[in-house]
Amino acid sequence: MKINVDGEERKFRSVWFEKDEVVLIEQRNLPEKIEFYRAKNSDDIAYAIKHMVVRGAPAIGVTAAYGLALAKIKGENMEEAVEKIRKTRPTAYDLFKAIDFMKSSGFDIHAAERYSQEVSGRCKKIGEYGNVLIADGSKILTHCNAGALAVVDWGTALAPMRYAKESGKNIFVFVDETRPRLQGAKLTAWELEQEGIDHAIIADNAAGYFMKKGDVNLAIVGADRICANGDFANKIGTYEKAVLAKENGIPFYVAAPGTTFDFNLKTGDEIPIEERDQEEVLVVNGKKIGPENSKARNPAFDVTPNRYVSGYITEYGIFRPDQLGDLKRKVQSDLFM
Ligand code: MRU
Repeated sequence: MKINVDGEERKFRSVWFEKDEVVLIEQRNLPEKIEFYRAKNSDDIAYAIKHMVVRGAPAIGVTAAYGLALAKIKGENMEEAVEKIRKTRPTAYDLFKAIDFMKSSGFDIHAAERYSQEVSGRCKKIGEYGNVLIADGSKILTHCNAGALAVVDWGTALAPMRYAKESGKNIFVFVDETRPRLQGAKLTAWELEQEGIDHAIIADNAAGYFMKKGDVNLAIVGADRICANGDFANKIGTYEKAVLAKENGIPFYVAAPGTTFDFNLKTGDEIPIEERDQEEVLVVNGKKIGPENSKARNPAFDVTPNRYVSGYITEYGIFRPDQLGDLKRKVQSDLFM
C-alpha cells in the first residue's frame, strides 16, 4: 500500500518479518501517527492481535503465522505459543487457518513468508475480479476496514476499488464510520486518502438515507468468516447494511480470500461471535458518554444471511450464493489451502 510519510510516497505492508521481530503498523494510532509495533515473542503477538494493534481477518492470520515462526526461532514452547495465539480473538477464520498451516509446516519462517505472499497475491486477484463490478462513476458503500491494513496489502473490499482507480475509473466511496472503534472513519478513510480515492465518511446510521436517495450503486464489504451456505460474519452493522441494500435494490458483495471460508460450519448460527469490553462503547475520546451506571453491550461482529448477498468476490472469481459448492471444490483442490 502507498503511504505518504513526511511528504514522500513509500510502499508498506501492514505486517512483515525483520531481524527476528514481527513488525506491524500500529493501527490504533492511525490516522494521527504512523508508528510501528515490534513483536519480539509470542506474548507480544498475542497482545497485538487481542488489543487490535493489528486487525482484519487476513492480517490477523498473517501475524499469527509470523508470530509462530518467531516463537520457534526464539525457542519457545510451541504448544503454549499456539494456545496463546489461538485464544486471542474467536471470530476471524483466518487466524485458525494460519495456525493450522504453520503447524503442518513445522512453524518454519519460510512457510510464514509464503503464507503472507499467498494472502496478498490472492487479495490482488480479488481486486482484478471485483473491478468488473465497478462501472465508471460508481458510488460504493463499504463498512469497517477491509483494506490493505486488514490484509498485508491490497485489501479485500478495497482491492476492487484500488483496481478501479488504477484503471482510470472515477469512483466515490461512502465510508461507514463503524462504531465503536471507528475502523471506517480512521482506517478506511485514511487508506482511500493515501490512494487519492474520492470518499466521504458517514455516520453508521446515515447509510439508509443515502441508499434510499439513490446515491449508492454498489456495496462491497469484507468478511471474518464465511460458512458453507454463504452466511458470513463481518463487523457489527454489516447485517443492517445488507438488509438495507436489498430493500433498495443495491447489489451487495462480500470480498474475501479462500482463507476466510470455513466450510466446516453449515450456517452462520455456528460462528463464534466476539463480545468486546463495554468501555469501547461507553467511552469516547477518553470521556464516559452515558450516565455513570449505564452498562453497554459490545458484540464485535454480526452474521448476515446468504440471501442478502449478490456474490462473493474471491481469488477464484465471483460466486453467487447458489454456486458455493463450486467454490468449495476449488478451495479444496487448491494445494495451498
Ligand atoms: O474487529 P476488526 O477490525 O478486526 O474487524 C475487521 C472486519 O470486520 C473486516 O471487515 C474483516 O476482517 C475483513 S478484513 C479484509
